Amino acid sequence: MKNNPFSLDFGAQPNLFIPRYTEQSKIVETFCAEHPSSHMFLITGARGTGKTVLMTSISHEIRDKRGWIYIDLNPETDMLNSMASQIYQSSKKRYPKLKFEISIKGIGVSLERDIKYSDIQTDLDSMIKTLDKHNVKLLVTVDEANNSNSVRVFANYYQHCLREKMPLFVVMTGLYKNIRALQNNRSQTFLKRAPHIDLTPLNLKRIGQKYMEVFKLNADDANEMAKLTGGYSYAFQILGYLVYESGKTKPDNTTIEEYRLNLEECSYDKIWEELSASERRVTAAIAQAKDNATVKEVREALNMDSNNFSSYQNVLIKSGLLSPVSAYGHINFCLPYFKGYVLQQSI
Ligand SMILES: Nc1ncnc2c1ncn2[C@@H]1O[C@H](COP(=O)(O)OP(=O)(O)O)[C@@H](O)[C@H]1O
Ligand SMILES: [Mg+2]
Repeated sequence: MKNNPFSLDFGAQPNLFIPRYTEQSKIVETFCAEHPSSHMFLITGARGTGKTVLMTSISHEIRDKRGWIYIDLNPETDMLNSMASQIYQSSKKRYPKLKFEISIKGIGVSLERDIKYSDIQTDLDSMIKTLDKHNVKLLVTVDEANNSNSVRVFANYYQHCLREKMPLFVVMTGLYKNIRALQNNRSQTFLKRAPHIDLTPLNLKRIGQKYMEVFKLNADDANEMAKLTGGYSYAFQILGYLVYESGKTKPDNTTIEEYRLNLEECSYDKIWEELSASERRVTAAIAQAKDNATVKEVREALNMDSNNFSSYQNVLIKSGLLSPVSAYGHINFCLPYFKGYVLQQSI
């Protein structure tokens, strides 16, 4: 089938896009305010919930405004070095008249680490202050941040900019556990105060709407199909893609089976791998319990005290695997077909 409008790529802005207006405008408006209440936002959520897509969409909206420069830093590289060279390149392109009064000799030149570090920081200060003088603000995005030395050095530099009132704004994404590890460093406690957006499932009605448009379905069929995704962003694309490829307008059993396998191979295997042995044990007990079991039933099956259980439950909710516990104490997975997947793993 030609021209499949759905996208299988992680991270790329999909063709069929369901905007997260609330989250996006919260970040954009905060950063663009005259007196911003925060210079940093952290976006967390399970793999495939749309962190990278949201971050990219925010960066494009800000990039198109006057008075901004936007750069993206890879946490696997020397972030300060890359920051200096990217600010230089990007301001030359956007604001050719703006001149930095520095030699930028530190950039890309491998000097001894300490020397390089202090040079870079002085150069960065001078560049960002020059931007500030010309009323230009700097947006930095960092995708998949983790607790690495490079990210910690960058975060310390961010804090320095905050103290010096320099116009540096940061959007960082990451898996909950990686962000938590980063925040737990003694020198990084300020990160705990950074506002945090935990991505919730996409609205099922909007997903249904998109399926209705593409497959010309009636509302009931579109809603049935949307339900199969559980609002999981990656699932929305995969299911749409497979139905489109099948040449039908609705998922049949073969397509659903293919869909389930794809979720497992491209997403759940990684999610499972990232769980600790005890988290797997708790996850397996939840999967083995009857549908809509209560916290108490699962906890008793595991023979675990309530403090211990609630700390696992908390991590699994924050990692985007469990839905927040309902008022009646029911506990459920939020990713589609995840229960069956866990049952297979834990046989
Ligand atoms: N708002 C959205 N609307 C539609 N599809 C989305 C949306 N956000 C993400 N996706 C799709 O979900 C998948 C995962 O998105 P991505 O941003 O890479 O997730 P993450 O960074 O959280 O792992 C991609 O296929 C992407 O096309
Ligand atoms: Mg991502």
